[in-house]
Amino acid sequence: MSVLSGKKVLLGVTAGIAAYKTANLVRLFIKCGCQVKVVMTPAAKEFVTPLTLSTLSKNPVLSSFTTDEDDELWNNHVELGIWADLLIICPATANSMSKMSNGNCDNLLIATYLSAKCKVFFAPAMDLDMYKHHSTQLSISKLISYGNFLIPPAFGELASGLVGEGRMAEPEEIISFIETNFSEPLPLNGKTFLITAGPTFESIDPVRFIGNHSSGKMGFALAETASKLGAKVILISGPTNQKLSDLSIDLTLITSSDEMYEKVIAKFSNSDVIIMSAAVADFKPIITFNNKIKKSNQTLSIEVEKTKDILSYLGEHKKNQLLIGFALETENEIENAKLKLKNKNLDLIVLNSLNDEGAGFGVETNKITIISKDNKSINFPLKDKKSVSFDIINKIIELINE
Ligand code: CTP
Repeated sequence: MSVLSGKKVLLGVTAGIAAYKTANLVRLFIKCGCQVKVVMTPAAKEFVTPLTLSTLSKNPVLSSFTTDEDDELWNNHVELGIWADLLIICPATANSMSKMSNGNCDNLLIATYLSAKCKVFFAPAMDLDMYKHHSTQLSISKLISYGNFLIPPAFGELASGLVGEGRMAEPEEIISFIETNFSEPLPLNGKTFLITAGPTFESIDPVRFIGNHSSGKMGFALAETASKLGAKVILISGPTNQKLSDLSIDLTLITSSDEMYEKVIAKFSNSDVIIMSAAVADFKPIITFNNKIKKSNQTLSIEVEKTKDILSYLGEHKKNQLLIGFALETENEIENAKLKLKNKNLDLIVLNSLNDEGAGFGVETNKITIISKDNKSINFPLKDKKSVSFDIINKIIELINE
């Protein structure tokens, strides 16, 4: 069940092309079990019709201070502001954000914003240069300083045909962002998680590399679960097709084990929990050729050397952090995993056996054993990777609370 179930949502729509996405957003809020009321700026009605939004929200859509032609019924912005458990301004145009940040109260939506006592989220949408403009950035900084939550726009194709930052978050991402930031306290509030995911690619020449079949699914699922439970999450991933629906996660993409080493070391000291779920290459070519190797010879030898063992480094240098490693084994699984746990000075190790059907790389499921420092192990049945991520994070929460 969504944490938003039963909540009263006030959706403020301002005049941007992305307003068309609010029809879907209203549907998703209703699906979560919310009551939804919509307030539009007068100009927003040019972009999506009040009829669409009132039909989907099952409530009249308001956009002026008075309701009927004789101006007899007052749409009370104070009541609306008090009614709402959360207010989301979406899309938030440069104009409306400027008015919100300066208290320029010339329409019902801004009056409602100024009256609202609840959490306020805003999802900017505009062209890339408008978004970058100092005045827009100033409005955004002010709104954040008022305690409002920015749902950052994505990089992508814009209505103008240009490509850049300014594209409004998708409705699913907005719901996920609000779910993550709405309910508190959560068990991981105040904790920073550093999580690695995916494979690393070690270059042989400009077109070839040594890699592995890791998809990044497990690491991305762990990142989203930790974030859902209140943690600030830094995710460092090798090449992957995985997408995040939670925009609050700080994602850095890398290619090689050396790059992963550098990024992890830079973030390590400010993290409380580190989960190394990446399948870091154990070996890399000693020489990376500048030009593509020609197939002129019948055989080719590539000399490789060990990569830096990131987890061992963290184990040697950790202070109060919890350190969690992964082990993928094919024989003497428990024995080997226990050895890694000890040698790398870990708090927990998550063991996957390639002998278990449905576990390991590329698949949707995983079957794990979690071994702790006191050598106790817990076996879990085969589950989808999202559920597995909850089992791992719950075990970490137990350690945090010990
Ligand atoms: N790891 C790492 N840096 C490396 C290699 C691995 O941090 N250069 C981490 C992985 O992210 C994982 C754990 O170490 O959490 C895996 O341990 P490792 O000893 O590398 O296991 P295997 O790769 O299975 O090694 P082996 O082939 O020796 O069993």
